[in-house]
Amino acid sequence: MTLEKILHSQGFGTRRQCAGLILAGYVTVRGELVEDPSAEFELEGLPFTVDGDGWIARSKLTLVMHKPAGHECSRKAVHHASVFELLPPPIRERGVQPIGRLDADTTGLLLLTDDGQLNHALISPRRHVPKIYEATLKHAADKSLCEQLRTGVLLHDDNETVRAEAARLLYDTLLELTISEGKYHQVKRMVAAAGNRVEALHRVQIGGLRLPDDLAPGGWREITATELAAARSSPGAS
Ligand code: URA
Repeated sequence: MTLEKILHSQGFGTRRQCAGLILAGYVTVRGELVEDPSAEFELEGLPFTVDGDGWIARSKLTLVMHKPAGHECSRKAVHHASVFELLPPPIRERGVQPIGRLDADTTGLLLLTDDGQLNHALISPRRHVPKIYEATLKHAADKSLCEQLRTGVLLHDDNETVRAEAARLLYDTLLELTISEGKYHQVKRMVAAAGNRVEALHRVQIGGLRLPDDLAPGGWREITATELAAARSSPGAS
């Protein structure tokens, strides 16, 4: 693929803008200055720099993020900052999307990708990829809350009973809840339907992938192949 097309695919602007960057001497490939926009390279894994910043070209890009509180998952956030503001412009431009949105006040594991098939595979309720949350409760609870959530609760304004795949108390005010659907405010609504209230919510796991220890709130990086395989698998499989 030509270098101009590679830069365009990686979010560096229109093809004309990318050709301009190359002609103006802003781009190196594998450490060498390249000033010819039509120079050909293999895209996947190509190391390049633009104005001194280093990148690795990917045909599909998936990121793992520790979502901080106070950030919406939409591109045009209305009431808060957007998680997209945590990403550099080229990654925003290439169209990565959150794999399942978290509420603005929810923290924890968030995956973003421009791979539509992966996005569908991880959020489709039919694929049953479990998501594990830790919910801080307003009122101290006992086992009966977990039993109710596992048996099923009727959400307000919903005719369906939804049930947790697993629920256990880590403390009397800290609930670990596993669900594989992604209904609007699902955890908060389930806990409310069971007579309690979520004060804080943190996602710790998707499939078999735990929130990586190296990511502080607001931190993100490209997902590794091992982590991606874990996200697609069941808990305990990684
Ligand atoms: N359930 C919720 O209520 N909120 C989230 O952010 C995720 C799941």
